[in-house]
Amino acid sequence: MVKSMSLIVTALAFLHVFSAIGYLGSALTFGLVIGPRLPKLSPTTSNEFFAKVGPAFVRFTEIFSWMTIIFGLVFLYAITGGNLSLVFPSSSWGLSMSAGMVSALAAFLIGIVWVTRSAKRLVKHAQALLLAPGQPPQEMLKLARTLKISSTIGLLLLIAAVVFMVVAASM
Ligand code: HEM
Repeated sequence: MVKSMSLIVTALAFLHVFSAIGYLGSALTFGLVIGPRLPKLSPTTSNEFFAKVGPAFVRFTEIFSWMTIIFGLVFLYAITGGNLSLVFPSSSWGLSMSAGMVSALAAFLIGIVWVTRSAKRLVKHAQALLLAPGQPPQEMLKLARTLKISSTIGLLLLIAAVVFMVVAASM
């Protein structure tokens, strides 16, 4: 695809890639560093971690995911000159771009519907337990399992999205 690199397009490319770094970075950090080590912490420590670090981590990921999608759509509109039929998978650029968008939107929806909701409910339980220590409710185990499965699927889809985007950008 022939691309014009005006100042606006360059700024949008920066904003999209910068947001994507934050989004994928937080998904990788949770999936590969924090998540696998949480079960190794004592219940009190992991509870305090969820209650105090959880809200900021969820908010950070939410903000960067929204920014990635919004700047991505505006960037797409700008580089195609509004001719969105270029995204149809009839060219190799269109094929990579549409595959990247489908993976990205699937990851984003899983993030909103599944990952963020279960994480926020876990945070609420953890904060309640911090105020009134006691036996964690059974629902916390279920939520932790949901969070683990959904964040793993979301991470794999995000990695696929980046691969397709980089392939499209190199054409
Ligand atoms: C609806 C969602 C998205 C849209 C519409 C979108 C749109 C775009 C567009 C138009 C490009 C430029 C392609 C080109 O220059 O040929 C691009 C590049 C890129 N996108 Fe996305 N994107 C989306 C989601 C994502 C996500 C979720 C990530 C990663 C978390 C991501 C990471 C990247 C990266 C790293 C590049 C730059 C590749 C390079 O310059 O080598 N995008 N995106």
